[in-house]
Amino acid sequence: MTLWGGRFSEGPAELLWGYTVDHTDRRLLEVDIEGSIAHVAMLKDVGLLTAPEHSQIEEGLRQLKADARDGSFVFEDGDEDVHSAVERRLVELVGEVGEKLHTGRSRNDQIALDLRLYIQKSARHRAAELAGFASLMSDLAEQHVDTLIPSYTHMQQAQVTSLAHHLLAYAWMALRDRERFHDLLERIDSPLGAGASAGSSLRLQPEATASALGLRGAFENSLDAVASRDLVAEFAFASAQAMVHLSRLAEELVLWSSSEFNWLTLADSLATGSSALPHKKNPDLAELVRGRTAAAIGDLTTLLVLQKGLPLAYNRDLQEDKPPLFRADDALAGALAALRAVLVSAEFHPPAPGPWTATLDLAEALVERGVPFRQAHQAVGRLVAGLVATGRTPAEATVPDLVDADPRFLESDLGKLDPMTSLARRQTPGSGTPWSISAQIQKIRAVVET
Ligand code: ARG
Repeated sequence: MTLWGGRFSEGPAELLWGYTVDHTDRRLLEVDIEGSIAHVAMLKDVGLLTAPEHSQIEEGLRQLKADARDGSFVFEDGDEDVHSAVERRLVELVGEVGEKLHTGRSRNDQIALDLRLYIQKSARHRAAELAGFASLMSDLAEQHVDTLIPSYTHMQQAQVTSLAHHLLAYAWMALRDRERFHDLLERIDSPLGAGASAGSSLRLQPEATASALGLRGAFENSLDAVASRDLVAEFAFASAQAMVHLSRLAEELVLWSSSEFNWLTLADSLATGSSALPHKKNPDLAELVRGRTAAAIGDLTTLLVLQKGLPLAYNRDLQEDKPPLFRADDALAGALAALRAVLVSAEFHPPAPGPWTATLDLAEALVERGVPFRQAHQAVGRLVAGLVATGRTPAEATVPDLVDADPRFLESDLGKLDPMTSLARRQTPGSGTPWSISAQIQKIRAVVET
C-alpha cells in the first residue's frame, strides 16, 4: 500500500516499483523515528493531537525505535521508503491513530531532517575518531623524536629531520579534518515544517521541533529547506579530504614497507601474502585505503553533480544522495580504523638520512657571516660538484675542499654536515627538533581535549 494511492485508479507497475524503490535509506530508520517523536510532541503542544493520541503514537514510535535498534524492524517489499515503512508499522502497532503521524509533514521535509540528523551523528563520530588519530600520531611521534629521516621534496632527499616531525604532519591534517566536521555541525538547522515545499496552513511550530532535536533553529525558507543538499556535499567533502590525507599516508606506508625503503615492518597479522610468491608480505590495508579514496572523491562529485541542474524545490533525483553519503561515511570510518591498526603495530626502523641532507646548513654558516645567500648557495654547490666529481660524500670532505669552494668557510664548518648536528641546530618552530616536537605534541594534546 502506497502513502498516495487515493488519486490513482490502479496500483504501481512492477517496473515503476522496481526502478524507483531503494531501501538504502533503511540506514535512516532510527533518526527517522527520532524526528517523528519530536514532530508528534509538537503536534500535541499545538493541539493537533490530543494527549491520549500523542501517547499512543509516541509509545508506538518508541517500540519501533527499539525494534530498529535490535534489528527486528522488518522492511517489506511494499514499503516505498523508510518513511512509508515506519508509518505502515506504526499503524499496524497502534491502529488508526497512527494515520495522524504525517499531519503537517511531507516526506520532503522529513528526508531533509533525517539526513541532517544522520550527518550530525556521523560528523560527531568521525570528529572523535580523527582526534583519536591525531593522538595516536602524537604517541608514535614521542617514540621517534631521535629517529632521523630525510625530509623529501620532489621525492629527493632534502633536509635532515625526525620521524616524529613527519608523523606529526599527519596529526595536524587530522585535526583540521576534525575541525571541518565541527564546522558543519554549526550549520545544521531543522527543515521540519517546510512541508512538501511551501509550508502548511496548520499552526505548526518549527522552532519547537528544532529545539527538541537539539538543532540550531528552524529553516528560514521552506523551498531552500527541502531542495538543498549542500550539507550532504559538505559532509562528503570533509570525508573525502580526510580520506585524501589518509591516502597520502597510506601511500607512504606502502613505500616505506618496500625493501627499497625498508623504513618499517608491518605486523604479520596486518599484512597479506601472495598466492604465487612465497616471500611476499603485502601492505593491502594501506593499498585499499588509497584505493577507496577514489570512490570517496567520486561520491563527493556525485553529490555535487546531483544538485547542479535541479530546479527548486524537491526532486526525486535527491533520493540518489543516500548511497554516496553512506559510502563516503563508511570509507572514512574504515580507513581510520585500518591505518590506526597498521600504525600501532608497525615497527619503524628507517635508515639514516643520506649524506647530502645538511648542505643547507653549510650555506647558512656563510650567511651568518654576512655572505649573501645566493653566493653561499653557489659556494656549497661548488663543494658538492667537487665531491661528486671525485666520488666522495660530504663525510669525506676536507678543509681544503671547503676553502677551495669559498675562502670564507671555516674549518669548524665541516662538523655542520653531520645529520644529528644539522637537526639540533635548526632554529625554526614547527620543525623536527626535539623541542619543537614536544611543543607540537603538547599543542595537539591540548586541541584534542577541546
Ligand atoms: N525517498 C525519498 C528521498 O530519499 C524521500 C522523499 C520522497 N518524496 C516524495 N515526494 N516522493 O528523497
